[in-house]
Amino acid sequence: MDNNKAAVIKEAHAPITVEPAQSYTPGTGEVLVRNEAISFNPIEAKIQKWDMFKSKYPAITGFTFGGTVLQIGVDVTSVKPGDRVAAARWGWTGGDDRFGAFQQYPLALEQNLIKLDPQGSLEHASGVIANLATAIAAVSICMGLKFPPVTGKAEKTGNKVFIYGGSSSVGGLAVKYASDAGYDVVTTSSPKNWQLVESREPTHIIDHTQSRDKVIAETQAHGPYVGYLEAIGSAEVTELMGELLSEKGGVFFSMSPTPVDGQLARNVEKKFFGYSEVLVSDPENQKARKWYMEEYLPEGLRNGNIFSNPILCVSGGLGAVQEALDLLYDGKVSGQKVVVNPQE
Ligand SMILES: NC(=O)c1ccc[n+]([C@@H]2O[C@H](COP(=O)([O-])OP(=O)(O)OC[C@H]3O[C@@H](n4cnc5c(N)ncnc54)[C@H](OP(=O)(O)O)[C@@H]3O)[C@@H](O)[C@H]2O)c1
Repeated sequence: MDNNKAAVIKEAHAPITVEPAQSYTPGTGEVLVRNEAISFNPIEAKIQKWDMFKSKYPAITGFTFGGTVLQIGVDVTSVKPGDRVAAARWGWTGGDDRFGAFQQYPLALEQNLIKLDPQGSLEHASGVIANLATAIAAVSICMGLKFPPVTGKAEKTGNKVFIYGGSSSVGGLAVKYASDAGYDVVTTSSPKNWQLVESREPTHIIDHTQSRDKVIAETQAHGPYVGYLEAIGSAEVTELMGELLSEKGGVFFSMSPTPVDGQLARNVEKKFFGYSEVLVSDPENQKARKWYMEEYLPEGLRNGNIFSNPILCVSGGLGAVQEALDLLYDGKVSGQKVVVNPQE
């Protein structure tokens, strides 16, 4: 096997350095992957720029990737060398550099990967594996709404859900998921991403580039709602959700804590979770995890019901990891999923 190389954060807040890295042999339940698609998530930029998790340095970060299986460890039965897979770094692997996405030959836990069809897109699968787990945990576990069928759409429940941010990766997946579960979904988009958000099958889209007052008035006019989710995680959106709910009071589920959380009206509650871990790691959700990893996700990728935002491939191999992180940190990603091929 070729020698491994990684995009490393050498110390807190440091820019990425590309350098040789250790080569790994997969242990029990582990799989060695030739990484061909690092799929980027905004939190990875925050981990680098803010030292968000007080990582141990030097650190190989990165949460999701796709590639080809090179070698399997003891007791691995679901994949073999040559299979194409998408993987996420859930549970204890989150703190173990060997499983980081920002390298050419990472390990993955068998339980944290899915096998793709030979023609399946590594970019789309790695782009959704964690973001859709986030949407499912938010909608069906934390908000307590229904699960959709594995294929097709559930009968209409007659209830409406408001999902702010339908053009973000998580927001778009949540809109389609809740729509398939039988809810009428009201969501938001900029005009630029309207068609993309329409493809997620909401019942109504609100232009979130309008003034805050207009967004709130239009959202209220299309209610009432059985649940509120905001899929952006910014201070600005927290304030908007707070104003939206302050008249009658209520709860909304959010993607991120922000500095303005303490300023919300007393009758408004914001709830935040590390959602995908709620689905895959909480012992009481193991049935839902199995349904997601073994049925819903593989079938949805196969039949095209589950798809990521359009892929923005940043060229330059591991040397492009910093550029990809900067795009996310600077808010320059609009209706796209950023991917780097570390083999380039
Ligand atoms: N808690 C968790 O478990 C969890 C898991 C995953 C992600 N997250 C967080 O969830 C957030 C979204 O992640 P993501 O990967 O889905 O993001 P993303 O795809 O990178 O989001 C980009 C989109 O955000 C939209 N946007 C940005 N600011 C906006 C605003 N003020 N109002 C409306 N839309 C706005 C833009 O829409 P337009 O271009 O159309 O304007 C853009 O398309 C991030 O904060 C991330 O860290 C949390």
